[in-house]
Amino acid sequence: MNFEYTEEQKAVQAAARDFARNELLPGVIERDTRQTFPAEQIRKMGDLGFMGMMVDPKYNGGGMDTISYVLAMEEISKIDASASVCMSVNNSLVCWGLEKYGSEEQKEKYLKRLATGSIIGAFCLSEPEAGSDATSLRTIAEDKGDHYLLNGTKNWITNGNSASVYIVIAQSDPEKRHKGINALIVEKGMPGFTVGKKEDKMGIRGSDTHSLMFSDVKVPKANRIGEEGFGFTFAMTTLNGGRIGIAAQALGIASGAFELALKYAKERKAFGKLLCEHQAIQFKLSEMATKIDAARLLVHKAAYLKDYKKDFVKAAAMAKLYASQIAQDVTTEAVQIHGGYGYVKEFHVERLMRDAKITQIYEGTTEIQKLVISRELIK
Ligand code: CAA
Repeated sequence: MNFEYTEEQKAVQAAARDFARNELLPGVIERDTRQTFPAEQIRKMGDLGFMGMMVDPKYNGGGMDTISYVLAMEEISKIDASASVCMSVNNSLVCWGLEKYGSEEQKEKYLKRLATGSIIGAFCLSEPEAGSDATSLRTIAEDKGDHYLLNGTKNWITNGNSASVYIVIAQSDPEKRHKGINALIVEKGMPGFTVGKKEDKMGIRGSDTHSLMFSDVKVPKANRIGEEGFGFTFAMTTLNGGRIGIAAQALGIASGAFELALKYAKERKAFGKLLCEHQAIQFKLSEMATKIDAARLLVHKAAYLKDYKKDFVKAAAMAKLYASQIAQDVTTEAVQIHGGYGYVKEFHVERLMRDAKITQIYEGTTEIQKLVISRELIK
């Protein structure tokens, strides 16, 4: 077993760390307060190759492994989880799914631009009445011969307004239940497609989360990903990999909060000595660091299994389950170590604590991860 990163992986990690400190940190508090999407920063992330990291270079991607991707996700998430969820959705849910299952024409038309970040994508599964219960979709894609007629509403869509390309999971044959579902590529600007209200969120407030409405949108058959009825399997297999990205995001939020807490504990004095000289604080730091290391091992194991084309479903669900849990614990303790300073925006940890919560909800709640893990254990 080798715990060393390659030179290339170290370089990716360093580039992501530098970018996060130099380009994302300035203004992150204002973007959070005003709910401003980091459009300029995402464009630069595209220029640096962070938006299509694992895509084959022949489709303009970085051709990197999943370990490089999770290293970059961790560094970006330490500073700005709103930017990292945009990155994660574009890389794991949109580019990966298109590269794996899309037609050559779809890759030429969409993937090549998505991989450079010149446009960004959105993954549209959740609905007002279908979140965890993803087979109960009410969005209908009626077969009309050479096209589908798309009608329905999607909710809580990351990159909802900033995306140009949307992968929409919709039901075409309700009698067939999940085997009647299709994954369709919808472009912004198609007649009948409107972007709904922006959500006013607890955390990741710079991320652009919207509802989407489809009213008689004509989607050409050429925009279906895979065979007729493949849409649910497409969504599930894509989410399996997406969960590694969100686990890395949770890990980054936790390690970002830990780094701030450690720095503060080494600078701030109370009762005549530094905070880090008090055993109460030492014990907190020890527990936080141990949880972060354990989460990183799970995230890297899932990434490793994916890179080596082994079954990573259970490992990805375990990584997301655990990393999102410790992100709650670690960010809460980071606020506690900062005391009153931790409760104000200037010190960043309150934002990280708010950002952490979503990692237990999106791309499969904590409860769904337990379901996935238990099904894998007993199958
Ligand atoms: N990988 C591959 N295939 C899977 C799978 C997995 N993890 N889980 C289920 N499937 C397949 C099954 O094999 C089955 O296919 P077959 O009939 O061909 O064998 C089919 O899917 C249906 O499976 P089930 O009968 O088990 O369906 P279910 O309704 O009992 O449970 C579920 C399915 C696992 C609960 C699923 O609905 C699920 O994962 N729900 C969570 C949805 C989710 O993660 N939403 C996140 C929204 S996206 C998002 O958040 C993005 C963002 O913007 C950040």
